[in-house]
Amino acid sequence: MDKLVIRGGKRLGGTIAASGSKNSALPVIAATLLTPDGTFVIDRIPDLKDVRTFIQLLGYLGASTSFENNRLTVCSSQLQSIEAPYELVKKMRASIYVLGPLLARFGHTRVSLPGGCAFGPRPVDLHIMAMEKLGATVTIEQGFIDARVNGSRLRGAHIDFPISSVGATGNALMAAVTAEGTTVLENAALEPEIECLCRFLQKMGANISGIGTTTLVIEGVDRLTAVGFDNIFDRIEAGTLLCAAAITGGSVTVTGTVPEHLESVLEAFRQAGCTITIKGDAITLNSPAELQPVDITARPYPEFPTDMQAQWMALMTQAKGDSTIIDRIYLERFNHIPELNRLGANIEIRDNWAKVHGPRELTGTKVMSTDLRASACLVLAGLIARQTTEVLRVYHLDRGYEAIEKKLTALGADIKREKYQEFA
Ligand code: UD1
Repeated sequence: MDKLVIRGGKRLGGTIAASGSKNSALPVIAATLLTPDGTFVIDRIPDLKDVRTFIQLLGYLGASTSFENNRLTVCSSQLQSIEAPYELVKKMRASIYVLGPLLARFGHTRVSLPGGCAFGPRPVDLHIMAMEKLGATVTIEQGFIDARVNGSRLRGAHIDFPISSVGATGNALMAAVTAEGTTVLENAALEPEIECLCRFLQKMGANISGIGTTTLVIEGVDRLTAVGFDNIFDRIEAGTLLCAAAITGGSVTVTGTVPEHLESVLEAFRQAGCTITIKGDAITLNSPAELQPVDITARPYPEFPTDMQAQWMALMTQAKGDSTIIDRIYLERFNHIPELNRLGANIEIRDNWAKVHGPRELTGTKVMSTDLRASACLVLAGLIARQTTEVLRVYHLDRGYEAIEKKLTALGADIKREKYQEFA
């Protein structure tokens, strides 16, 4: 296995380009299953383990793909299977994104139920509810979601999501674009990754209005075609790199962004005393002499993202005073706290909130985590810790960060990837 070995204490500085977004790439790749018509060429697809797992799933279904230099080419004219198997879904929950497109195109699909998750239960009831509203019969058999269209085609419907769900909104959109008649999605997720999916579907020929609002109206069309497309930037990667600048007292510019997509995070940095300068697509963070504590609550976009909560907590260990961190999306997404405390942080946890008592001097040791953003949080802590921090099980990080150690090295960090063996 790989580990990252970090010698902390280097102040980061310089300019780095943001990678393409993982969370928009995955539904966009799924949407290529909607049409047999032509070949898609999609740029700015990050080279990540989750993306490669999704491409593997497409290959399993029978699509032909090539992926090089962040360009993905897909032709799904001759699919041979309508089933997403357990072996691939268990590697990545986002595999559920094939549910909507396969159902819409073939009238039948079987998708393995995703299992549990490191930060608590993650049900898929809203995905299923949306397919049923659109006229499918859904049964759960032997660990699979089996969805079948009654009649020749899905039918437009009014779907009011009881809670905002990125994945269920994406699946409902992909199922509705070729349904008969009008679909209205209420309380749709507002995340930029959903907007990106809408733009992609529009380019394919879908008729969607209300993009960028919580009410999406979709008029079903008969035909979609393959297109060329540019993916959006990864706001979570960019936010993590800015955190790396702030925690080391450095000054970093991240280019290729859409600063509005990060507004809640940039506002938190400002409150912490950082100076944020925006020039076109570039965001520069200059650190203050002393970080101030800032309370955050993770909620759906446009509020502070749950995917930045762990990294923010690492930063707050260095702030002068106490801060409170609440996650209202995932109530158990705190498995980074015991590891941060092992590095010397002083963080209390009660249910879905944490109190960080800062500032604390951190000292490196071996740490590991069982999820992606928690691993990023530990890397950030390692950047400021005295002596050496070893972040084990880097494969979690590789699911969502493209060449993270190369980017941090380019900014001046002392971080190396090494092989190690775990005890059996
Ligand atoms: C996506 C992101 C993930 C991010 C999350 C929240 C991708 C690939 N992943 O995950 O990084 O942390 O959004 O911003 O884009 N829920 C239900 N029933 C459902 C679906 C969701 O109760 O059928 C709940 C979830 O448990 C959670 C909340 O809804 O509490 C939001 O989850 P959702 O937005 O669906 O997350 P994902 O799309 O899985």
